[in-house]
Amino acid sequence: MSQVQIDNLIATIDNLPPLPAISTSVMSALDNDDVSINEITELVEKDLALATQILKVANSPTYGAINTIGTIHHAIMILGLKEVRSLLLVFAVQKFFNLDTGNEKIRAQFWAHSQVCSFTSVLLSRHFHFNDASAFFLAGLIHDIGKLVVDQYLHAEHLQIINHIRTTRGSYREAEKHILGVGHFQIGAKLLQHWSFPKQLTMQVFLHHAPWKDSHFSSGSFIIFLANNLTKLAGFPCLAEERQLSLDELDQSKALRLINKNGYEVNTTLLKNFLIQIKEFATIEKLQPTQEPGSG
Ligand SMILES: [Fe+2]
Ligand SMILES: [Fe+2]
Repeated sequence: MSQVQIDNLIATIDNLPPLPAISTSVMSALDNDDVSINEITELVEKDLALATQILKVANSPTYGAINTIGTIHHAIMILGLKEVRSLLLVFAVQKFFNLDTGNEKIRAQFWAHSQVCSFTSVLLSRHFHFNDASAFFLAGLIHDIGKLVVDQYLHAEHLQIINHIRTTRGSYREAEKHILGVGHFQIGAKLLQHWSFPKQLTMQVFLHHAPWKDSHFSSGSFIIFLANNLTKLAGFPCLAEERQLSLDELDQSKALRLINKNGYEVNTTLLKNFLIQIKEFATIEKLQPTQEPGSG
C-alpha cells in the first residue's frame, strides 16, 4: 500500500460520519449527573432492539445473573449507568459496521473473538483491581475495530490479508504489515479519536499489541493484550487460520516479562486458570471455538 493510499485511508476515517444516534436521548440523559434509573428505563424501553440487548447482557455470565433478570429497570440496576453508557457505544459501533460485505463467516468469527475478549478483559480487570470494569468491557469488545474499518472501506485489501494468512499460516499483524503497511491498532485508534471516545480507551486499543509502550502501564492496555491472547488460546482467534502465541510463548514473551516487572504477577498457573473460566463462559454463551483450544 502506497503512502497516498494510506493518506486516503486516514482521510476516509476523518470523513466518517459520527456514531449513529441510536438513542441520542439516552446518551444525553446519561451525561446528566442527576439522571435517575427510572428515567433511563423509560427511554430504553422505547427502543425495542436496545431493550432486548440490555436484557441479554444483564443476563449473561459476566454479571453472574444467568437468565434471572426480566425487566429493563432490574437490568439497569444490575449493570449500572456507566455500563449502560458503554453498551450504548457498543451497539452504535455494531450498527455502524453491520454492512454486508459478503464475509458473514469472517464477521461471525470476529464478533465471537470480540465477545470473548470483552468477557476476559473484565475478568482480568477485576483480578488486577482496576475499578472500571465497564471501560474494559468496551475496550475488549472493540479492540480490533480497525479490522472492521479495513473490511468495510478497503475490502479488496482485506481479502488479500486473509489470503496471505491462509497461505503463510502467519499472524494477522504480519499479513497487514505486508499488505497495508499500517496496523489495525493504528486505524482503530484513529477512528476512536475521530469519534471522541475516552482517551484511555483509545490508548488501550492503540497499544493492545505493544502494552510495554504504555507509560507505567497506566492505561491498562496490558489487560487487553493478555485478554486478546487468552481469547485466542481458548480457541477464539479473529480468523481461524491465523497463527497465535502458544501458552509457553506467551509465558516467555517480552510483554509478560515487563508486565511482571511492573508489579502485575502473571504466571502459567494463573493463565491456565483464566482459560478455564473463559471456556466456561463460551459454553454458557454457546460460542463454538473456531480453533483447537491451545493450538498454534
Ligand atoms: Fe488486534
Ligand atoms: Fe484481537
